[in-house]
Amino acid sequence: MTLKPQKTLRYQELAERCAELIRHGTYPMGERLPSVRQASLQHGVSISTVLQAYSLLESQGLIEARPQSGYYVRAEVDEGLLPEPETSSPRRDPSAISLHELVMMLMHDSANPNLVQLGAALPNLDTLLTQKINRIIANIARTKGQDAHQYIFPPGLEALRVQIARRAVNTGCNLFPSDILITSGGIEAIDLCLHAVCRPGDIVAIESPSYFGTLQALEVHGLRVLEIPTHPREGISLDALEFAIDHNPIRAVIVISNFNNPLGSVMSDEKKEALVNLLSRHDIPLIENDVSGEIYFGDKRPMVCKAFDTKGLVMLLSSFSKDISPGLRVGWLAPGRYRSEVEWLKFTLNSSSPTLSQMAIAEFLESGSYDQHLRRIRREYARNVSLMSDSVMRYFPEGTRLTRPSGGFVLWVQLPENVDSLHLYKIALQGGITLAPGHVFSATYQFSNFIRLNAAMFNYSTERAIERLGVMVKGLERG
Ligand SMILES: Cc1ncc(COP(=O)(O)O)c(C=O)c1O
Repeated sequence: MTLKPQKTLRYQELAERCAELIRHGTYPMGERLPSVRQASLQHGVSISTVLQAYSLLESQGLIEARPQSGYYVRAEVDEGLLPEPETSSPRRDPSAISLHELVMMLMHDSANPNLVQLGAALPNLDTLLTQKINRIIANIARTKGQDAHQYIFPPGLEALRVQIARRAVNTGCNLFPSDILITSGGIEAIDLCLHAVCRPGDIVAIESPSYFGTLQALEVHGLRVLEIPTHPREGISLDALEFAIDHNPIRAVIVISNFNNPLGSVMSDEKKEALVNLLSRHDIPLIENDVSGEIYFGDKRPMVCKAFDTKGLVMLLSSFSKDISPGLRVGWLAPGRYRSEVEWLKFTLNSSSPTLSQMAIAEFLESGSYDQHLRRIRREYARNVSLMSDSVMRYFPEGTRLTRPSGGFVLWVQLPENVDSLHLYKIALQGGITLAPGHVFSATYQFSNFIRLNAAMFNYSTERAIERLGVMVKGLERG
């Protein structure tokens, strides 16, 4: 049983968090940890709590103190962890997409309250937060009268765009409120980008694997995809992308640069800059999806590709679905040079995003509670991802591989070669569990022995579900 005991002391919690950062590679071997003073400021704990935590990590052999210098990660701590999946090797030619039947099956099952939900990337709705947002909504309904019922035409509520522009500074971007368009979630933003820059039959380069919502949007637009090899921690291969650009008329590129779904990969700042430069040389737009960018387990919010964009070619999108509320349906897009086209499309296709939702999110952001809430969910998701990884390691058969995300809340699991994840999906459903089979993450079904698991709601019953899944996987492996 790996669930944390109820009463954990502060220094133990801090030590556990640091151990996770070390395990997930945020602090690799030989790296210096933040100084005691820095760590005390970062985590909002006393110096003595940090000293106790560091000394616990020292006694566990994870770090060492070097006189006059600080604390360093001691040894390769990869031992004992499951190996990661390798960089993907998709087909080199473009493919049409036909995944809608599988995806709709997944969607229906993810709405079934009788199943243990490991499939859809549903966030763990935080009670404190939903109560607060509900109070904000009630207050808006009381005080704003008819204003809360009127359209807010594109680009959307100014107060919200101001808040988003202020936060963009943390990602390295200098966005003005007028650069931002409010959308109905991230998925509408993806759709608007494709509408603006692609025509049916065009080729779009994507990561391999790719979030199935992106694949669905591409399918609806009648686009073909070229899947590019992608590393489970470092993201899309730029060499392979450059080769693809040299040999195909690529119309656009789509990446989830931070905490990729399903891989958890994060592109380094250097890689983000190199990607923007590569696409800028060829005048190819980049659709950058950053919906989980705020859910990082390390010390720092990662930058976005958009920060390096000097030609307006990067269309940056995000939403509040993963960190506040998917049901409010509020997302946003900074469409760069495609702004007026996208604004027209938004107006034509959807008129306006829900006014009450925009007002509620704006007010929540203005209240200053968002950062505090983010700190809480980052800790919780880091812990849950780590606990779920431990469970997979314990219950799944030898030959299983697993990603090590440093943010977000999904895990990508490679099962032994002969285990078909769609077969597993069907057996798991009979056993009261739903998961996301690897088939839906590629136009060419190349991930038939992979599954994506949602760790957001990890608890005792999730752990038991992972145990049962492990038995099923072993059964399928034996044939
Ligand atoms: C990577 C990614 N992009 C976009 C979305 C959709 O976001 P929204 O619910 O805001 O439309 C999701 C939801 O799962 C996602 O995982």
